[in-house]
Amino acid sequence: MRPKVILITGANGEVGHGLIQRLHAMKDQPPVVVLDIRGLDEHMQPLVDTTIVGDILDENLLDTLMSEYEIDMIFHLAALLSTHSEFRPTSAHRVNVQGTINLLQLAEEQARWRGKAVKFIFPSSIAVYGMPDLDTKAQVPPLTENEYTMPTTIYGCNKLYCEHLGRYYTRHYRQLATTPEPFGVDFRCVRFPGLISALTLPTGGTSDYAPEMLHAAAKGEPYQSFVRPDSVIPFMAMPDAIKALLTLAHAPREQLTQLVYNVTSFSLTAEEIAGMVQQAFPNAQIDYAPTPGRQNIVDTWPREIDDSAARRDWGWLPEYDAERAFFRYLIPTIQQRYRST
Ligand code: SER
Repeated sequence: MRPKVILITGANGEVGHGLIQRLHAMKDQPPVVVLDIRGLDEHMQPLVDTTIVGDILDENLLDTLMSEYEIDMIFHLAALLSTHSEFRPTSAHRVNVQGTINLLQLAEEQARWRGKAVKFIFPSSIAVYGMPDLDTKAQVPPLTENEYTMPTTIYGCNKLYCEHLGRYYTRHYRQLATTPEPFGVDFRCVRFPGLISALTLPTGGTSDYAPEMLHAAAKGEPYQSFVRPDSVIPFMAMPDAIKALLTLAHAPREQLTQLVYNVTSFSLTAEEIAGMVQQAFPNAQIDYAPTPGRQNIVDTWPREIDDSAARRDWGWLPEYDAERAFFRYLIPTIQQRYRST
């Protein structure tokens, strides 16, 4: 008998860390197997059952996973973020798209062997949107899932296409087969805004100015924002991001009317974030040296997104608005973190 497990790819990223901690604290969960090209940081290892150092593009490795485990649920977090991806679009395509189809195929084959769908939880991003100009960005109401999906980054294109792949595997895979095929992939996707964690920093994203500003202030270092003070996009505190992934993963299928859901918490300008940071760290030195490329990317991302479908279908509700996120989670946790290092 192959043991039934939860698989997390990209587990050593900041969403992975948060997810592992939360899963560890939950009762009655299947064992957790993690896969990351960099392995898993040592302090996280006691929280998982098995760590595999490997690449989602390595088909032999995926074959081994196939034969060794019954995979009940996949959190496919492995990806190259937006700024990194711009420098290496073909690598981004390989990791973000080929990596995802490899995992979807694995989920599909697993489902066939066990005669039961495999849940595939996928984080997408506000990067799938592409606002044509700043006036439109300022004027449109919060965007629903299907408006302005005209991304300008390779990362946004990759994520948007992967959303479609998830839909294809869930609803249309082998549509020409002569006999109907009831089992398969149960794809569930949340589109995240920029994420801010008190414990980790992202690598290679374009919304990174917010967490970087905060972490620099906590460490007593000056910070130069790569976007203008008036730049605005939606954000979310990491605990809410983990809550969104797990709530959607456990929602009854029949309540879900769509496969892709926006989730959001609060929208702030860079200047408003700096203001919050400076309330907690009055000596923080923050100034602005916008770099045109990254600024343009942030300008194409929406000011606000509409997450009413998630609220309606699976009871999504963030616990942290801006005030609570900064003053009840981010700042106290970060102060403690840098005090103890
Ligand atoms: N935070 C991501 C990035 O900046 C967007 O989802 O790439």
